[in-house]
Amino acid sequence: MPSAIVTGATGILGRAIVHELSAHAQQWPTVHALSRSKTESYPSNVIHNHVDLTSPSKEMAEQLAAVKGEYLFFSAYLQQDSEQANFDVNGDMLEAFLNALDITGASKTLKRIILVTGAKQYGVHLGAAKCPMMESDRWVVGDDRPPNFYYRQQDILRHYCQDREFDWVVTYPNDVIGLAKGNFMNLATSVGLYAAVTKELGSGELPFPGSEIFYTKFDSFTVANLHAKFCAWAALEPRAGNEAFNVVNGDIESWQNLWPRLAQRYGLKVPPDQFERSADMSSEMLLAERPPLDDWADELGLRGKVRQNKVQQRIDLVKWSQKEEVKEGWEKLADREGLEKDAFEKATWEFLAFVLGRDYDIVISMSKARKLGWSGYADTWESLEEALGELEVAKVLPKAK
Ligand SMILES: NC(=O)c1ccc[n+]([C@@H]2O[C@H](COP(=O)([O-])OP(=O)(O)OC[C@H]3O[C@@H](n4cnc5c(N)ncnc54)[C@H](OP(=O)(O)O)[C@@H]3O)[C@@H](O)[C@H]2O)c1
Repeated sequence: MPSAIVTGATGILGRAIVHELSAHAQQWPTVHALSRSKTESYPSNVIHNHVDLTSPSKEMAEQLAAVKGEYLFFSAYLQQDSEQANFDVNGDMLEAFLNALDITGASKTLKRIILVTGAKQYGVHLGAAKCPMMESDRWVVGDDRPPNFYYRQQDILRHYCQDREFDWVVTYPNDVIGLAKGNFMNLATSVGLYAAVTKELGSGELPFPGSEIFYTKFDSFTVANLHAKFCAWAALEPRAGNEAFNVVNGDIESWQNLWPRLAQRYGLKVPPDQFERSADMSSEMLLAERPPLDDWADELGLRGKVRQNKVQQRIDLVKWSQKEEVKEGWEKLADREGLEKDAFEKATWEFLAFVLGRDYDIVISMSKARKLGWSGYADTWESLEEALGELEVAKVLPKAK
């Protein structure tokens, strides 16, 4: 039976992988969970190791002396202030870790490496991409394109696996719904805090803070638990070797469908005229001059039709979170309900603003994995509701009702 090594074990995606593998102890008798911090206790088949992936390979190798496994799941991530810094730091972490496995000799037992990346693969952070997004789509590169750390990581991985006994798999999740504390991109925590504090402030309404345009456009979400199941499947599926896969829930969702349900969960109403009201806390941010879709314009017959995209917020979430009234509302709520005091401060408002504020569809195809037999599926609303419930149990969010 194989052993697994999981980096980023405390992160939103890595944590779910550790839980998925360790829940199947007969299949995965040993799971090595690696991160700098340790945030929870694990089942007996999980061995946690503290490791700093930014340290030199030699140093890392000393910490990893007892870590061996046939399957490596690399889901560590260290967010930086610029795409160049993301490219440098996250690429270096993967490279140094793989070199450390050569030093310890652990690479000799490897069978497959699963690298977790995301839909920035398609340049969704730069503007509209061709929809649906497919794994065979060309990389978004060129003189006017910022560096993309996923491309560097994939190049490092391919190079490392060349002429070896093991192969690789890469996953592309998007807008992840799951559980992690104090991480870099956390949709469920931020949206739950926005709803809970808005309720505390007493208007009885839950206005959509994002873009009016995006409210009726489409997004593809990834539940962390489903992604973890995918990783376990892809590790063992022979035909998945040396392939990259989109990993989204399989339903296409839209905030026009999710937002009223969220409001209802918190006993609030969506203002019927929300987009007619004045928006005195609005903001707007232009994205890349040329959206990724522009790379396809000629062959799709869209020359001259691809416009620069923006992120629009009717209520700027960073500014909203800094309002005295909002902070006081949170303090009151946290005191009364015995919540984790720093949850609000750690919420990822900029990320939520991006998720709600874009003005273009994100439709991601699952056809490639399905053709190989993957049948996993999750209902996005049910998953969001489940994640909110778990965050309530973890005392990050108050009970909705
Ligand atoms: N979250 C999303 O919505 C989303 C969406 C699409 C794609 N992705 C991609 O998925 C991948 C994983 O991201 P994530 O969101 O799961 O990350 P995350 O929740 O922020 O977790 C990052 C993990 O990396 C670990 N880590 C960070 N720096 C480390 C270091 N120096 N040494 C060792 N471990 C370190 C962290 O643990 P410690 O801090 O304890 O070390 C944590 O376990 C990234 O490529 C990300 O871009 C995420």
